[in-house]
Amino acid sequence: MDFTQTLQVSQMIVSELSGSAFVHKMQGLLFKSRGLEKLGQKYLDHYAEEMEWVEKYANRMIDLGCVPQVKLNQESRLIEDPVEYIKADLKLQREGVESLYKIMPALATDPTTYDITKAYLADEEEDLYWDEEQLEMIEKIGVQNWLVRQL
Ligand SMILES: [Fe+2]
Ligand SMILES: [Fe+2]
Repeated sequence: MDFTQTLQVSQMIVSELSGSAFVHKMQGLLFKSRGLEKLGQKYLDHYAEEMEWVEKYANRMIDLGCVPQVKLNQESRLIEDPVEYIKADLKLQREGVESLYKIMPALATDPTTYDITKAYLADEEEDLYWDEEQLEMIEKIGVQNWLVRQL
């Protein structure tokens, strides 16, 4: 059995997702400190949820006899305006979901990692819909009313 592709994909997800989850955590702290308690908590919870996926992929690599690498060097600037942040996140989310769709066929030879990724993809799609819903709601009720809901 050749798990080269599985391991490559898992390592890539472990590295990238740890970085983007950490951004959610920092954004959460920032929003909370500005009084946007609910929005802040949403992103803190989101951090925890995404790190669970990191764990799943890392454990899968370990099960396959590979020691995951720790490579965290991406730089991100935090965005103070929550609406601007959601717009920026939606863009990243779309790119992420698209690349997961492309990756799926490469995992066909490893049903276990395939299943983890299928579930992870569904989760990321949910995140994408959440971003879209927020922007639609802002459009409908206005930024001020939307912000009140995030307190
Ligand atoms: Fe995310
Ligand atoms: Fe996510």
